Amino acid sequence: MASINLQEIQDLLISVAHEAGGMMLTATPSHLNSGTKKNSADLVTETDRAVEKMVSTRLLSAHPTFSFIGEETYVPGETHLTSAPTFIVDPVDGTTNFVHAFPAFCISLGFTIDKIPTVGVIYNPFLDELYTGIKGQGSFVTRKGGEKEKLPLRKEPEPLVDLSTCLIGAEWGSDRSGNNFNLKSKVFTKLAASKEDGGAMVHSIRCVGSAALNLAYVAAGQQDVFWEGGCWAWDVAAGWCILTEAGGIMASGNPGDWQPTVDGRKYLAVRGAPSGQKEIVEEMWKVIGDGRMDYES
Ligand code: IPD
Ligand code: CA
Repeated sequence: MASINLQEIQDLLISVAHEAGGMMLTATPSHLNSGTKKNSADLVTETDRAVEKMVSTRLLSAHPTFSFIGEETYVPGETHLTSAPTFIVDPVDGTTNFVHAFPAFCISLGFTIDKIPTVGVIYNPFLDELYTGIKGQGSFVTRKGGEKEKLPLRKEPEPLVDLSTCLIGAEWGSDRSGNNFNLKSKVFTKLAASKEDGGAMVHSIRCVGSAALNLAYVAAGQQDVFWEGGCWAWDVAAGWCILTEAGGIMASGNPGDWQPTVDGRKYLAVRGAPSGQKEIVEEMWKVIGDGRMDYES
């Protein structure tokens, strides 16, 4: 295969992200025709579908030989991530926020080669914030009216000490019963509880409502950790590239696995730091204890 110009791919993804942002902003959230997928907390709108149609049309007409995986056209059991160059797209990540006009939603545009996140573009149109990354070339944020800034935002990130100094991103997801929900509830409580009560007494836990934005914030160094099970490759592919280019690491959201896969559905991201990343992963895994999330890939 001829070598792929990653800068051109990124430029195309940025242009697509801006067009998608325009579509999201002209949809009036309170009048959105929203429906549900799996249950009443798993929302989808006409905008999710219209944006994905626009994105797949533009990306595949520019690169007809590449694969495309999108949240709204994914077919369980049939769509699989392969080693082919693949666009992995969530047209609206943070759909619940979008429906409520809560300003934390974005388009997440990832590109993988050999299943490795290679280009990532995340765009929050409401705040006009654009996060970008190319494997081996660093990652950046461009904020409304501002310059393009290299990630992480701090030139010299602080060492990571332990969980008690961390701001954690974590999400409830849409499964609200069974083993996965029970484990999440237990871990949330243990992270927040005081040391006297056996907890980690973290600074706090943020439920931003978009896995892609969580990863962007960890890449930027604004959150120290992001832990989630249940989200999908399209939620994390772009953010994963942006995170690792900012010096962050990705381990599995289930203890013991340092080499998680993009479509593995269990993620633990830690920000860039001169020391302490591995120890934070191990401390998180200790909090999780014997529990295991069992989302099917
Ligand atoms: C969801 C968001 C949310 C996460 C869910 C995802 P969607 O994506 O990223 O933060 O908790 O697991 O499915 O439905 O808004 O595209
Ligand atoms: Ca979505």
